[in-house]
Amino acid sequence: MKDRSPRGSSAAACTPAQIAASTLSRYRDLVDDWDAFVAALGRPLAPCIWANPTRISVAELVALLAEEGIAAEPLTALPGALRLAPEARTGQHWWYCAGLAHAQELVSQLPVRLLDLAPGQRVLDMCAAPGGKTAQIAFALGNRGTLIANDLSTHRIKALQGNLDRLGVVNVSTTCKDASNWPLRGGQFDRILLDAPCSSEGTLRRNPSLLGRLGPENAARLAPKQRLLLEKAVHLLRPGGRLVYSTCTFAPEENELVLDAVLAAAGEGLRLLPAALPGIRCAPGLTEWQGQALDPRLAGCMRIWPHHNDSGGFFIAVLEKPADVAERHRAAPPAPPVDGAEEIAPWLEGVASRYGLPEDIWSRYRVHRQTKRGLHLSAADHCPPRAPRPEASGLFFHRTNVRPPKPTTAGALVLGREASAHRLDLDAEQRDRYLRRETFTPHPEQLAAGAYGQVVASYRGHVLGMAVVHRSGVVESLFPSRWSGCTATSGGQPAAASPQPPAGASSSHH
Ligand SMILES: C[S@@+](CC[C@H](N)C(=O)[O-])C[C@H]1O[C@@H](n2cnc3c(N)ncnc32)[C@H](O)[C@@H]1O
Repeated sequence: MKDRSPRGSSAAACTPAQIAASTLSRYRDLVDDWDAFVAALGRPLAPCIWANPTRISVAELVALLAEEGIAAEPLTALPGALRLAPEARTGQHWWYCAGLAHAQELVSQLPVRLLDLAPGQRVLDMCAAPGGKTAQIAFALGNRGTLIANDLSTHRIKALQGNLDRLGVVNVSTTCKDASNWPLRGGQFDRILLDAPCSSEGTLRRNPSLLGRLGPENAARLAPKQRLLLEKAVHLLRPGGRLVYSTCTFAPEENELVLDAVLAAAGEGLRLLPAALPGIRCAPGLTEWQGQALDPRLAGCMRIWPHHNDSGGFFIAVLEKPADVAERHRAAPPAPPVDGAEEIAPWLEGVASRYGLPEDIWSRYRVHRQTKRGLHLSAADHCPPRAPRPEASGLFFHRTNVRPPKPTTAGALVLGREASAHRLDLDAEQRDRYLRRETFTPHPEQLAAGAYGQVVASYRGHVLGMAVVHRSGVVESLFPSRWSGCTATSGGQPAAASPQPPAGASSSHH
């Protein structure tokens, strides 16, 4: 297939002279090895991916990529993650469209690994779009329970939902709100990720054009917002809960200085935990900046320079609210009841019988009608927030306002693997035509199965989406047009500077 993903930016990398002349030179005395730092910024960045644990094992993914001619090196420090060659592209490969993997830069994978996640925790991802970390959290929770993914930007929430749809994430409700105004009446959280909007200096390797737009004025503009967001996160954290603050920038004003102010204001009510990940090299957080002494505990933060792990740059702090803090835990209000069970039941029976789904299939999910267009599906124990009102809970999986009603692509990707009827397994040529939304003629033995009408289309057993087998003998692809341009987004870019992915099938470094 044609690959249109901009993984591993094709823009010219930054030269040492450009870096020396840029505002990055203000970090010359902070970086442990300036020459290595400059050299790293001048090298292309190899894309990283992780295997979707609900669809494929890492070993199977490595083998599959090898068959596709893509060399993948497992990252020993990050189980489940693979580094590809710098020139490799993710995006519009069939295995990517089938949600077998997600592209996420190495450093972007780190904050979630410090959240100490376990199934059953109630988690908030405050600034979540385009959702690479949301998906990581969702799977660390076992794709069950309650994760709320919030972002200020409506169209970035659409991109996030597209990633969750492709990956089959069913334990997320999305909200679109200024997180610094998040209502406490919605209940506190066991874990919170604040991957804050920042000046994105650490993303230069994949976006060298950012160099001319860097400067301390960005940090001055962003730091007050970051502080408000972090203060809100502290309020929303239950006693004994853990909070990770991260940015993809080097600017101390957006990192240690924000934490210094919030730690001072919180006093005994907040602890900074020393952060480390085996196999990941980093520098300690700063305890002094431009003559200002900072909280000595800040040395426990992770400052990741690009030359440390041949990656982008990142900053991570791990915070904990003591369990014995003088504050009562505000529990989440119970989930709103699912209305319209009688109306929903016949639709579910129809889907299960046509596709031969297991008898217990619907007991694993919470199904509700969110819009007139159709039905949404989330994990059975998912508890959508009462405040703020969610944009969506779970996946839009079945369209009921069309004749005949039909599962969506997201629905097919989640349920289709268990379908024992009306399936059509494609060969490689048909697969590519399907993803290009072209019609094609099935082989006689494929038609012998008698699967006319809507079918679940798959390749080597991996579901790609829905198709229609017409009695005329052609197969029509129902692969969504907006998914057939899998592309990348930069997650950590200032909103105005970053190209946005099409809602649906974006891949993300962040
Ligand atoms: C660094 S990006 C998040 C990347 C994301 N965590 C991921 O891994 O894909 C920061 C996000 O914060 C969002 N944002 C900015 N201000 C916000 C606010 N006040 N409340 C909520 N989200 C905000 C931006 O729209 C942007 O999507």
